[in-house]
Amino acid sequence: MQQDHLISATQLSRSDIEAVLDRAAAVDADPEAYSDRYDGSVLALCFFEPSTRTKLSFETAAQRLGGDTIDMGSVESSSVKKGESLADTVRVVEGYADAIVLRHPSEGSAKMASEFVDVPLVNAGDGAGQHPSQTLLDLYTIRENAGLDDITVGIMGDLKYGRTVHSLAHALTNFDVRQQFISPESLRLPRKVRYDLHEAGAQVREHTDLHEVLPELDVLYVTRIQRERFPEEREYRAVAGEYQIDNEVLAEAKSDLTVMHPLPRVDEIAPEVDDTARAKYFEQAHNGVPVRMALLDYLL
Ligand code: NCD
Repeated sequence: MQQDHLISATQLSRSDIEAVLDRAAAVDADPEAYSDRYDGSVLALCFFEPSTRTKLSFETAAQRLGGDTIDMGSVESSSVKKGESLADTVRVVEGYADAIVLRHPSEGSAKMASEFVDVPLVNAGDGAGQHPSQTLLDLYTIRENAGLDDITVGIMGDLKYGRTVHSLAHALTNFDVRQQFISPESLRLPRKVRYDLHEAGAQVREHTDLHEVLPELDVLYVTRIQRERFPEEREYRAVAGEYQIDNEVLAEAKSDLTVMHPLPRVDEIAPEVDDTARAKYFEQAHNGVPVRMALLDYLL
């Protein structure tokens, strides 16, 4: 990687990605070999927004490497409540830890915070910006199930506010992947992301109707409408409940379609899909542990 911090998927070259994924596969194959690699190291978890998977999988990853974690806890119980700036918080935390994982509601916050610290900082989501460690586990899951070359990936749902989408779309430009984006008109990919994808030479098409592309997809990456990022609840309600899949919708898909979702899901994927061989979203969430172990190993 070009720098010690992981802020955006735009930093990741194909060889960086392959190095992390290969190491994750090695961790998966022989976790014991990594179990005391970071004895005595401390990972700080600074989450200014809710998290289940990201926080717990980083915590498990650190522990499985022999390290420990410290957790800032909720914003309500931290000094942020007293008015402390993010820059001050991370400068203090770097004195307690060997690496920092940060999630924050403002786009650009991770980049800004990283300029104040020398220990590696991982962006675990900055508003509607980026979520690059999620992308690594998404790529790992795609590679395991569909391979990463000569495939068609559909990315559906909230492409405007979905940070996992912005990171994944960029990372996929490193591979021979055709990208099909499916969303309501109001939740299209942001212009900046479209521009970056174009600059990276991506093969991209946009649709409002899943049926136009479903039969050609090898992977369908479904996302949640990011309710908390809409300026007006009314705007959220106008698109909520659209773009849901169930087994009937998927009837016209390839039989070996890989269905993914970064989770949490609300109502985008009917529970009946969970019992089919296509459903890979729980496996995807579990892949967070070996991939984040590999990432920490790479950064530290
Ligand atoms: C995602 C996020 O926080 O961006 N969750 C996650 O980390 N797996 C997706 C979401 O919240 O919809």
